[in-house]
Amino acid sequence: MNKRIAVLPGDGIGPEVTAVAVQVLKKIGEVFDHQFTFEEGLVGAIAIDETGNPFPDETLQLCQSADAILFGAIGHPKYDNDPTAPVRPEQGLLAMRKALGLYANIRPVNTFKALADASPLKREIVEGVDFVVFRELTGGSYFGKKGRSDDRLSAYDTCTYTHDEIYRITKLAFEAAAKRRKKVTLVDKANVMETSRLWREVVQKYAAEHPEIELELMFVDNAAMALIQNPRRFDVILTENMFGDILTDEASVITGSLGMLPSASVGNQVALYEPIHGSYPQAAGQNIANPMAAVLSAATLLETSFNLMAEGKIIRHAVEEALNFGYVTKDINPDKFMSTTEVGQKICDFI
Ligand code: IPM
Ligand code: MG
Repeated sequence: MNKRIAVLPGDGIGPEVTAVAVQVLKKIGEVFDHQFTFEEGLVGAIAIDETGNPFPDETLQLCQSADAILFGAIGHPKYDNDPTAPVRPEQGLLAMRKALGLYANIRPVNTFKALADASPLKREIVEGVDFVVFRELTGGSYFGKKGRSDDRLSAYDTCTYTHDEIYRITKLAFEAAAKRRKKVTLVDKANVMETSRLWREVVQKYAAEHPEIELELMFVDNAAMALIQNPRRFDVILTENMFGDILTDEASVITGSLGMLPSASVGNQVALYEPIHGSYPQAAGQNIANPMAAVLSAATLLETSFNLMAEGKIIRHAVEEALNFGYVTKDINPDKFMSTTEVGQKICDFI
């Protein structure tokens, strides 16, 4: 198979973990005789430094002409601590999601046997957890009208959703549930927010037409609690942009490390794959970051964009073997750990 992959390493630990994911894809290419070509593009703080724009046109064109996108992370502390910065790296990520129409962010949460004791939650709570979050990615308060009053003493972020924005991701979530345990939990704040009431209307109507899938409705505050009390109760979680952002960081704790969670962002054209962790600037350049979320994102890329199921499975198996042998980074075992590149090499050896 011949495929072009756009690689956007981004900021912080992004370049280090993405390099491992590319190494793994090259290894798969060798073993299975696929021709993957990789082309790098700029995004985030590094793109601001080099071009003044966090998502340059060149990067957009690279993404649009690629068969899939592998993305690292975005963000830099020099912007986090400056609320008046005129351009921010995160704008690059949001612009990219919008421009590529990546409206659904799919974040699977499963526990690995070898990591059951790495979670701060009790083993009996985290064992066997297997759910997936469908987070809406191009609407809500992330993209609504925002601003300040003239005297700058008040500010607003508007949360807006349309029927169609809700419908298209609802359809994806229900299709995923049909292949899983046939349950969708809609997480919202319908007791307070009008947008949430629209979500309920659209999703309930869709559910009535798909009676084979059970629909559960849950307020987000309650869901935050249920996620750590009884995460096994969830199969597919469907939610809006901001709630999904917050709940998936919370959910990552179940697996033992934020460094384990991959994600896929899909829309109508090319799809993007990225670890859910951020740029972790404190660890940048030290060769200590966990590359597994990036590697699992690469596995998801092969499965979802190229339908290479056997290849994806081998990568997942190789990651599990690395975990079983204790070939892990510091976040997972602070007493006995390897570097980012060593873990990457072990995964390639297993492949
Ligand atoms: C994520 C991140 C981003 C988000 C940030 C970096 C803008 O937290 O992908 O979850 O909030 O969507
Ligand atoms: Mg987030």
